[in-house]
Amino acid sequence: MSERDSRIEPGPNEIERTDREHVFGTWSYQKEVSPTQVVDADGVRFTTADGEEYIDFSGQLMCSNLGHSAEKVADAIDEQAREAAYVAPNYTTRARAKLGEKLAEVTPGSLSKTFFSTSGTEAVEAAIKIARFYTGKRKIVSRYRSYHGATYGSISVTGDPRRLESEPGIPGTIKAPDPYAYGSTLDPMESVEYIDEMLALEGDTVAAILVEPIVGSNGILVPPEGYLSRLKEIAHDHGALLICDEVMAGFGRTGEWFGCDVFGVEPDIMTMAKGLTGAYQPLGATIVTSEIAEHFEENMLCHGHTYAGHPVAVAAGLAAIETYQEENLIERASEVGEYLGDRIEELAENHPSVGDTRGVGLFRGVELTKHPEKRVPFGEREDKIDTGTTVVDEVSATAAENGTYVASMINTLIVAPPLTITEAEIDEAIEALDAGLDVSDAAMAH
Ligand SMILES: Cc1ncc(COP(=O)(O)O)c(C=O)c1O
Repeated sequence: MSERDSRIEPGPNEIERTDREHVFGTWSYQKEVSPTQVVDADGVRFTTADGEEYIDFSGQLMCSNLGHSAEKVADAIDEQAREAAYVAPNYTTRARAKLGEKLAEVTPGSLSKTFFSTSGTEAVEAAIKIARFYTGKRKIVSRYRSYHGATYGSISVTGDPRRLESEPGIPGTIKAPDPYAYGSTLDPMESVEYIDEMLALEGDTVAAILVEPIVGSNGILVPPEGYLSRLKEIAHDHGALLICDEVMAGFGRTGEWFGCDVFGVEPDIMTMAKGLTGAYQPLGATIVTSEIAEHFEENMLCHGHTYAGHPVAVAAGLAAIETYQEENLIERASEVGEYLGDRIEELAENHPSVGDTRGVGLFRGVELTKHPEKRVPFGEREDKIDTGTTVVDEVSATAAENGTYVASMINTLIVAPPLTITEAEIDEAIEALDAGLDVSDAAMAH
């Protein structure tokens, strides 16, 4: 029994009780919400009010790509807040112009002009509207195992069960199958041809195919080589655009700047948030090709927010990208990511409840199973909107008792640490995960 196990739980402190009473928890039955107060975060670790320290093995919500001590970003926020904390979107600031230019530089191909917002879901809303305005068509094809955000347009194109309470959602959204070799009967390359047939049967009335190039919260699904380029070809054959949602996969997580770079594919529209500021400020971005940008010279871009291009947020974004570049964090993620992949494979060899491991760079998923031959999951998709805890949650809780925070989604543990993590820190976290996986091993069907 670890030192943490043997201690008597102190119960919620005053801040946690006050928060519990006055603030809604997200995506939760409120009776199950019990927020933990964080008092400090440094490097790849954070500390809670009861003095416990955790390795942040999921970068909070797969967004703290720079870790918790990015001085340059913190300074940029401080300086901009003092210089001009806010100006309306019809004015500009140095950071807004320079960040627009930087995004054109680090994104692939002719992606060159950005609309700024404040979150991933807003970046997706803008992408949907731009695709509809540009093509003059209305329908958006997305996939079942996907998450694109909580606002109405984004939740309507989301495939995971979080969408169900908001259905029927906005008109014109259609769901397609996913490249999920472990849990689906459809071969990934067959599933992409099925999408071709879908667009034909829709009579070429589809504005865009919207995908996460590497699916994030729905299980870290990496498509086979050739899948994404074929999807782009299918979209273009039917007069539709390809939108890549890079909100989670972007900014170095995969060892490349963006998930689509892993496959050498340039989308027509790309959405970003999370790692764009390393999560130091809320900022979303939707970048389009110069061809699409040109369309809006003579057609109104009928979209905007009070905080579009918020000076403090874009200052954080610019400093974050400079930090990725100056500290070679993208290359680093690729190198350290290899080590992380090897260590996860060792876990898989030692734990029969690990059914599948997937991922690239510092973006990895560990899918659990009760029964390896039959591939029976511990957590079902419906559990995402159900009450209570699953064995997968218990694995995460045990890892936390051993000093490592790792997010679990449905049936998969999501490993997405800050890109600054060292091999020694990975070893520490893997040890905690090892203890967690003993719980799922013990719960397997015999
Ligand atoms: C791929 C993807 N798109 C969009 C979103 C929505 O981003 P936000 O929560 O910032 O609105 C998320 C959030 O996890 C995401 O993973």
